[in-house]
Amino acid sequence: MSILRGKNILLGITAGIAAYKSASLVRLFIKSGASVKVIMTPAAKEFITPLTLSTLSKNPVISSFTDADAENAVWNNHVELGLWADLFLVAPATANTLSKMASGRSDNFLVATYLSAKCPVYFAPAMDLDMYKHPSTKSSLETLESFGNIMIPATTGELASGLVGAGRMAEPEAIISLIESNTLNQLPLYGKRFLVTAGPTYEAIDPVRFIGNHSSGLMGFEIAQKAALLGAEVVYITGPTHYKPNNSRINTIPVVSALEMYTQVHLHFKSVDVAILSAAVADYRPKNISISKIKKSTQNLSIELEKTADILASLGTIKSNQILVGFALETNNEIENAIIKLKSKNLDLIVLNSLNDPGAGFGGETNKVTLIDKNLVQTAYPLKSKANVADDIMTEIQNQINA
Ligand code: CTP
Repeated sequence: MSILRGKNILLGITAGIAAYKSASLVRLFIKSGASVKVIMTPAAKEFITPLTLSTLSKNPVISSFTDADAENAVWNNHVELGLWADLFLVAPATANTLSKMASGRSDNFLVATYLSAKCPVYFAPAMDLDMYKHPSTKSSLETLESFGNIMIPATTGELASGLVGAGRMAEPEAIISLIESNTLNQLPLYGKRFLVTAGPTYEAIDPVRFIGNHSSGLMGFEIAQKAALLGAEVVYITGPTHYKPNNSRINTIPVVSALEMYTQVHLHFKSVDVAILSAAVADYRPKNISISKIKKSTQNLSIELEKTADILASLGTIKSNQILVGFALETNNEIENAIIKLKSKNLDLIVLNSLNDPGAGFGGETNKVTLIDKNLVQTAYPLKSKANVADDIMTEIQNQINA
């Protein structure tokens, strides 16, 4: 999944021959899951038709303050459009437009929108080699960079003039990947590694039967998704569930039993910064697994169970700088029991859900939690979707990371 998924992107097109590449840019943005609106300078329409771009972007193309073709003239609101955008890319950016952007000369809709936009602005210059080298162009580029705008430098090659040199607009694929990696770098959890456990474990009785529980795995799935959306690399170790993350920063490791989960968690724990253990791990497993299917030959059947290793507690004994987060599902003396677990398992944070609260805990779409940190500061949250609970947990973890 691209980091640009769900983002609102404004593409500003100015009058250079490289405008023909804008069609590919729109296609690539749409393919990455972004919404795209296109602004053209009036002269850019000589190089590529608005129809092509409106068809590809599925949005009308705007090139002036009023829509002159409409029966009832409509004022195009550059302020609203500038605020709508999560990201503004001007590509190709001609020497003329770069100079207007640098000096604030707002004589067309594109530059007025640029001045209104609060989002990150990227620009991809495209012009002939001598224009690109000219001190006034260089001065525009430096000024724009000093404003915090991000330049996607022109590349070297054959230019429309027939001359060979620097001035070709970067290729659309290169532009998109630069924007993607730049967007990722700016995320608050970029560079951090998370380990998340989720779902139930199944403990085999014989080849066809097991002891399990009703955990859906949704809470852990939402936590893994949120951590990845905030820029973290996530090792997601999950028991059997229906949830399949589609984010390239989530490495999913499916496991079945508590022992497999224990092994995988210990394999990865040393390389992570944060471990969140939300799995409903079986506390007991059959002591002996029958190698053949158990026949119903006797009236009663007893299965001897033995304790599984407590994965969370085992991490508490070996952790160094990691932030260790556990869950507690309690039915009585909730806060006291959660604090006992927080201390005995050497946790930095415990997420308490009480089975007494309607809508909390296993199975459902919602949860109602109290977060208790290692200083015993308690924060009780109202009933929320598990996605929103994951947001609250991430906010607390970021506070601990930045403390
Ligand atoms: N946990 C674990 N390994 C286990 C059992 C639990 O890692 N074998 C983790 C869970 O993922 C959860 C936390 O421990 O983060 C709390 O689990 P819970 O079952 O509520 O508490 P227990 O410590 O097992 O105590 P009890 O069942 O007696 O309440």
